Amino acid sequence: MSDGAAADGAALVRAFEAAGQGQVFAFLGGLAPGDRRHLLGQAAEIDLAEVARLNAGLAAGATAGPGGDSDLKPAPFERLPAGGGDRAAWERARAAGEAALRAGRVAAFTVAGGQGTRLGYDGPKGAFPVTPVRGKPLFEVFAHKILAAGRCWGRPFHWFIMTSHQNHAATEAFFSERSWFGLDPARVHFFRQGRMPAVDFNGRILLEAPGAVALSPDGHGGSLRALERSGALDLMAAEGVDTISYFQVDNPLVHCTDPAFIGWHLLRGSEMSSKMVPKAYPEEKLGHFCIREGRLVVIEYSDLPIELQRLREPDGSLRFGAGSVAIHVLDRDFVRRMARPSGERMMPFHRAEKKIPTIDGSGRPLRPDRANGIKFELFVFDALPFARNPVVIEARRADDFSPVKNAEGVDSPRTCREDQLRKFARWLKGAGAALETDGTGLPGLSVEVSPLFGFDEASFAEGWAKLDPKPAVADGFYLE
Ligand code: UTP
Repeated sequence: MSDGAAADGAALVRAFEAAGQGQVFAFLGGLAPGDRRHLLGQAAEIDLAEVARLNAGLAAGATAGPGGDSDLKPAPFERLPAGGGDRAAWERARAAGEAALRAGRVAAFTVAGGQGTRLGYDGPKGAFPVTPVRGKPLFEVFAHKILAAGRCWGRPFHWFIMTSHQNHAATEAFFSERSWFGLDPARVHFFRQGRMPAVDFNGRILLEAPGAVALSPDGHGGSLRALERSGALDLMAAEGVDTISYFQVDNPLVHCTDPAFIGWHLLRGSEMSSKMVPKAYPEEKLGHFCIREGRLVVIEYSDLPIELQRLREPDGSLRFGAGSVAIHVLDRDFVRRMARPSGERMMPFHRAEKKIPTIDGSGRPLRPDRANGIKFELFVFDALPFARNPVVIEARRADDFSPVKNAEGVDSPRTCREDQLRKFARWLKGAGAALETDGTGLPGLSVEVSPLFGFDEASFAEGWAKLDPKPAVADGFYLE
């Protein structure tokens, strides 16, 4: 280590000691030079003032939860024309969105920094094979939607992908080995999200090894500050992009750059817009769009009392039935503002009590069998209350939402595969192809349409109309 670095190290140690976090360096003296540098590097990443603020909140028993629910109202949303929405307004929105897409104002943004613990897949979640016939990975599905939509609007998109420290190198390698799925590599941008230290129940930062802090990704809400810190927002500004189409890595059904959604956002002068689907049943694990104290908020399923989740309107619909599907459009300057928080504009950290692998006083590993500490995460929807004119629009679940979250059961590879099959079958049948489906729209055969053939129903129908003769649909049918 150079003298300068050693001096910086000493200053860092003093700052941690002054903050009551000196235990982070308890083993510093005995570390090999590489481990020492690693630990100091990790420590330099930690915002001690932020940790102190969170600890003060812990001591006061504060949570990032929803607050009281006495003043809670369901949030209004724009209904789809099929459900009684204003068709002309949807058409105006679509036209405005298409104009923005043609003008190159929109970038795609995928958050892919999660740990994917529930799925238990060994590798970045975006590499998980998901399509019904070809078993294409999630990243390929998005890449081809983005490629095809870019061709359609005459403007190739910039695509920003947020990774974590854990999966960054593997994600980049995955794209490089597959030649960026045909995209221009200069338009695919990877950046890492931030990390937060885990603390014990007394607010003391935990070590996972003598030379390593227990750090974990700072949540999908960390994407706003990571977009700023990484220089992504500057690049967008230089490229004339002012509108960010945000989606999660686990949902292959998503319309990555939806003109109508983008149009609603722009025409309303919204800084952050969201898609909702009606909850399928009261206990479905979706966040709820609500209005509290005049502001749009999303209240997680675990935070809304079950009586409220079950409450029905006179027409039988769920009162708090607007489910969040984590699809947003964000204004670039709004993201910049949120990334530089001030007193009144601070997204809350959510706390989760977890089993955190750590070490004992002599540096030996401890694998706790019950929660021994707290992890902190930011959630992207917590930016909504700070956004001007936020708009929520209805999405058709079958078009936009079927995430892969769990290894089995709901939101699993099986349900997602079936939802893709239903969507392809619906498109094929709509275009006149002969295909048997059951009462839920599920075909008896495996079929798949590449986004390069049709990235939405309209582009599919256009492509199909040009086919002469029309192909017969058999098991394993694939169109590209
Ligand atoms: P989830 O809430 O489903 O979490 O993330 P996860 O980490 O992927 O999965 P589990 O809970 O460990 O099983 C929703 C989306 O937010 C991203 C994920 O990659 C996914 O696209 N995310 C989540 C991040 O980018 N960073 C995070 O810190 C957390």
